[in-house]
Amino acid sequence: MSKTILSGVKPTGKPHLGNYFGAMRQFMELQNENEKGTNYFFIADYHALNFVQNVSEMRKLSLDVVIDFLTIGLDPKKSVIFKQSDVQEHTELAWIFDTITTVPYLKRAHAYKDAVTKGGEEDVSAGTFTYPMLMAADILLYDTDLVPVGQDQKQHIEFTRDTAEKFNRIFGETFKLPDAYILKDVEVVPGSDGRKMSKSYNNTISLFASDEEIEKAVWSIVTDSEGEVPKNVFAIHKLIKPEGELEKIYDENKGKYKILKEILIDDLKNFIRPMRERREGIAKDLDFVNKVLEEGKQKAQAVARAKMSDVKRAIGVS
Ligand code: ADP
Ligand code: TRP
Repeated sequence: MSKTILSGVKPTGKPHLGNYFGAMRQFMELQNENEKGTNYFFIADYHALNFVQNVSEMRKLSLDVVIDFLTIGLDPKKSVIFKQSDVQEHTELAWIFDTITTVPYLKRAHAYKDAVTKGGEEDVSAGTFTYPMLMAADILLYDTDLVPVGQDQKQHIEFTRDTAEKFNRIFGETFKLPDAYILKDVEVVPGSDGRKMSKSYNNTISLFASDEEIEKAVWSIVTDSEGEVPKNVFAIHKLIKPEGELEKIYDENKGKYKILKEILIDDLKNFIRPMRERREGIAKDLDFVNKVLEEGKQKAQAVARAKMSDVKRAIGVS
């Protein structure tokens, strides 16, 4: 494949199994398939600033995402890994998009509507309101072809295409229209309470959990009392064990929830341990992590600067 692929992750906390199977693992697979193209994966720290407004937390969470990226197999030789705030053209271009976008249009964004539903309009920051324009800038600066995201981000990619079209119409052909690459619907991974695994429900199993955390999380998985196959246990097990083997285990242990949970604990430990150890190794080597970010910054800046100079010429400010 020879495409320009780009995606961003907000630094908002530890990744869990849902994030990994629903999104991160597929970044790594795409990176490896896109041998002849260019891949950008960035830490969306200016997006996160809408919620994370504490200096040490921001520093730590941003660095955590880089370490997570490297742990799951994003490879700085194959992908440009950078921080959004290191490339000032993102916010500069977002401003220009703000000026060609109307308020009613932005009011249609799901993220804005959700924020209003949660806290009332008075508490929604102007940054949350205009965030689709920053996201459009993130994508359009790099002539991106494909944006791998979860279903929840599809509307933002449509906003990005609309914005590119509008700019091209007003100022002349400047931006390439990107396509969303909606990540394969890995069935929603359930959390320990049976609802969707999510940071906001406190029901997650961290991708880097310790053995004790794994045990605690698995013992707390809610099992239904009727079925012979505990479906939440099975759904998590299915992610890490080949289907054939799994069916045999669940056939042989019908109704034996305790044994099935013990097997899941062992399998999760074996799956997570190497991941956790790899992460610990990378986290100790901060020189390497910072070098990755520095190289990513140089590469991303060069591309973003060139695009921004086209934009400035097109609008008549250069
Ligand atoms: P959270 O709900 O924990 O805050 P995010 O909204 O940050 O997670 O999710 C980031 C990405 O991870 C989403 O776009 C989605 O693709 C994936 N994801 C999150 N939770 C799950 C889940 N339980 N099952 C499958 N995919 C998930
Ligand atoms: N909005 C995305 C999210 O909440 C994160 C993001 C910011 C992003 N900029 C992006 C994703 C550009 C893809 C491309 O998950």
